[in-house]
Amino acid sequence: MKQIIVAIDGYSSCGKSTIAKQLAQYAGYRYIDTGAMYRAVALYFIKLRVESLALSEMESSKLNELLQQIHIDFAIQPDGTQHVTLNGEDVEKQIRTLEVGNAASQIAVIPEVRRFLVAQQQQMGKNGGIVMDGRDIGTVVFPEAELKLFLTASPEVRAERRYKELIEKGEQPVMADVLADVNDRDYRDTHRAESPLKQAADAVVVDNSNMTREEQMEKIYRIFNEACK
Ligand code: DC
Repeated sequence: MKQIIVAIDGYSSCGKSTIAKQLAQYAGYRYIDTGAMYRAVALYFIKLRVESLALSEMESSKLNELLQQIHIDFAIQPDGTQHVTLNGEDVEKQIRTLEVGNAASQIAVIPEVRRFLVAQQQQMGKNGGIVMDGRDIGTVVFPEAELKLFLTASPEVRAERRYKELIEKGEQPVMADVLADVNDRDYRDTHRAESPLKQAADAVVVDNSNMTREEQMEKIYRIFNEACK
């Protein structure tokens, strides 16, 4: 059967990565979490103590030079999951905090950062057999993808999911802060000048606010099988 490119875009915390991982496993495809790549770049600059604002004001050639020092990869774990690595170091846990998520959203507005990561994502997916999730996969990275899914859920439902995830990780979030954070991130992701989050004209929209995981996956498998024909 044809090995297609599946592009999954959508708002933060609407279950994109869980769905993408599950679909990749079902299809026997490689899964690429592009949000993890933005998070890894953000972590690199946090560690260097370079603020996002300083980066956005930096001369393009200097910023490109700094970006060339960053090597991001995905290491497959014995249980089949993937951990993102930054210059050889497993940073999977470090990138999953609110702080890094916010910094990622800020550096993701910088054109040089986007160009740097988009080129790598295009390389990773060029032979198909891939499920890639992010914000601009169906619009910018792979506008020719055979299947584009656009996932969405209400901000309240997403904030609740995010809240539970953070509690499970041992953080002590405040619900109002998490909701404000979801709304802020939505605003930044949809209003930035460079590759804003937007639904591709040919994307299939899946609103999972009122769907169980099983209902949702059944629907997605059906759409996927149809796209492979
Ligand atoms: O999906 P996530 O929460 O891990 O993504 C972190 C940030 O990275 C998010 O605020 C937007 C940005 N991002 C992006 O701009 N483009 C992508 N393809 C993926 C993520």
